[in-house]
Amino acid sequence: MLQKEFSNERINDALDARLANHSLVRDFYVDDDIYAADMACIFNQQWLFAAPLAAFRTTGDYITLQLGRDPLLFIRGKDGVIRGFYNVCRHRGSKILREEKGNVRGKLTCPYHQWMYELDGAFAYASHTPEQPRADMHSLAPIHVAVLGGGVHFCLAQNPPPIDEAAKIINRYVEAYCPTRMKIAHAETHVVVANWKLLVENNRECGHCRGAHPELMECIYDFGLGGDVRGDEEYTAQCDAMAAECQRLDMPPETLDFPDDSFYRLARLPFRPGFLSETVAPQMVACKKNLGTASSKTGQLRTVLLPNCWGHYLSDYYVVTRLLPQGALSSRLDVFWMVQEDAVAGSDYDLKTLTEVWAQTTLQDTKLVANNQQGVLSSQYRPGPYSPITEVMVEHFVDWYIRQLRT
Ligand code: FES
Ligand code: FE
Repeated sequence: MLQKEFSNERINDALDARLANHSLVRDFYVDDDIYAADMACIFNQQWLFAAPLAAFRTTGDYITLQLGRDPLLFIRGKDGVIRGFYNVCRHRGSKILREEKGNVRGKLTCPYHQWMYELDGAFAYASHTPEQPRADMHSLAPIHVAVLGGGVHFCLAQNPPPIDEAAKIINRYVEAYCPTRMKIAHAETHVVVANWKLLVENNRECGHCRGAHPELMECIYDFGLGGDVRGDEEYTAQCDAMAAECQRLDMPPETLDFPDDSFYRLARLPFRPGFLSETVAPQMVACKKNLGTASSKTGQLRTVLLPNCWGHYLSDYYVVTRLLPQGALSSRLDVFWMVQEDAVAGSDYDLKTLTEVWAQTTLQDTKLVANNQQGVLSSQYRPGPYSPITEVMVEHFVDWYIRQLRT
């Protein structure tokens, strides 16, 4: 049964029709009511990725985003704390910040009648109002915010799920990459005509990688994902060398695969012999300045934070994707590439080398997923069986998804 406040017989029927180890019935990928349930039961209740920490380097740095009907803003205050607020003026409701990123000097000022707010959200001034409104009633509505490794995350629920323990573990895995000393080198946005779950499912398997991702398959293996026990001598040797280097550098080597049914996965995967990073050729770095203490021999740290974030920490760059649903058949992906804060474009890195593998991979994936959606829309789509070798994590995601709707 669907969470009872969203009770809907048709959705309950669809939930009951779920066949283990099979893709979902079509309604889950196309239906507006199920999309509304996804937003209510997942995106308004879980912790979500807002932006890389590197988007908030100095006082007043901000980003905005749209989640369902809610415009949100995240901003670094004078005290260095990154906070989140509904981007909604307490006068007559105008959106306050209109750009997707920028820096506020002084106060947050509504563009409509110039009401003002401090960077910590506190009401500051109302124009043409001799008796100023009460600050305790007219400050910006706050959002829960947490920093997880290199990312700023938020939760719109009044009582968010616990996050402190996960934050401690994720921060421990990521500390070697010095997330507070990164800057954004590049970002790209893709709008995909597809349901958000198809994008997550695509990210959770590499059964398509050999056929779709020539650049990615040059530098890494298509096995090693959760549940995929394939491997060969070379892969095993690369894994062993990577684990030894992690030990040497005091970087936790173990894979944490959604421990205790949590929302996160942390896994290290090695490069193919000779590769130093996720780049298109052996012996090639993406950036001459390392992010921190990780080395090219520590491979990549892959992170998945359900429902809307996946990233790769490498010794010389960090690439992360944010997924925001925009409707039953529309999703927005933002990909951010980070380098060490002192790295200079043109001498320490060039954008083509830095972005080539993951930009190509993302483009290839968006086409695959849009194509997948087209077929799922057909009257002849039926749930098909997952591979027990390459699609174990897709089943894990779908299972997680169903549980969120039900609990
Ligand atoms: Fe913001 Fe009027 S709506 S100042
Ligand atoms: Fe892919």
